[in-house]
Amino acid sequence: MRYALVVPAAGSGRRFGASVLRKQYEPLAGATVIEHALAPFLADARCHRVVVAIAADDTAWPHVAARCGERGTCPIGAVTGGAERAESVLRALIALRSGLDDDEWVLVHDAARPCIARAEIDALIAAALPHPVGALLAVPVADTLKRAAVTGTTAVARTEGRESLWRALTPQMFRLGALAGALEAAQAASRQPTDESQAMEWQGYAPLLVPGDVRNIKVTTPADLALADAILQRNRTTRQTP
Ligand code: C5P
Repeated sequence: MRYALVVPAAGSGRRFGASVLRKQYEPLAGATVIEHALAPFLADARCHRVVVAIAADDTAWPHVAARCGERGTCPIGAVTGGAERAESVLRALIALRSGLDDDEWVLVHDAARPCIARAEIDALIAAALPHPVGALLAVPVADTLKRAAVTGTTAVARTEGRESLWRALTPQMFRLGALAGALEAAQAASRQPTDESQAMEWQGYAPLLVPGDVRNIKVTTPADLALADAILQRNRTTRQTP
């Protein structure tokens, strides 16, 4: 099989705090966050094309793209992302659609997830290939979940049952045409899915949950960056890093 990779990297990083750097360009374990996020895909012969969605005012990407280009032969393109993550992904898919058939596989992976391991990518692909819709990495919820009474307040309204609840990670893997169609339908309905699976679910599909690794964290705050650094340093001998 072969797949194209879409990497949404056009977020403002508001939750990361005021910084001149977008969070994906923060230094991390000898490279940057996004270079770690891309590394196992660039080392995968099945990955034949990469499209990264970047912000319109992003001046750091060309330098990173040049470094990534030195590490493999896979063409890496960029599109300007949108105001929401789903729009950024859709723009990248539209770019892919000009050269690829609708039944090509696409993996979507957040630029902010630098600890993705090759073994997780392999598990996702193995599970998604025979599945009629596609699949996503996810981990079962381990903590007890509380719902606050009012959004933004801290009084507990109730405890949510955690049975059957999973946290969705990336990468997520779907067919190019089906995913683009699902994101277009969401956009037409003014709905904002927070991952690809949600857009597919709104179309009536039931993507497959594939157990992922809790170390595949999303860097959202500076504390996450320290955690990612520890994970990458510890796994350097056993996991692929740039
Ligand atoms: O904001 P969040 O942490 O959910 O972002 C996940 C990924 O989506 C990040 O890599 C971010 O850069 C990307 N994103 C995007 N376009 C947006 C918002 C987020 O590509 N408008």
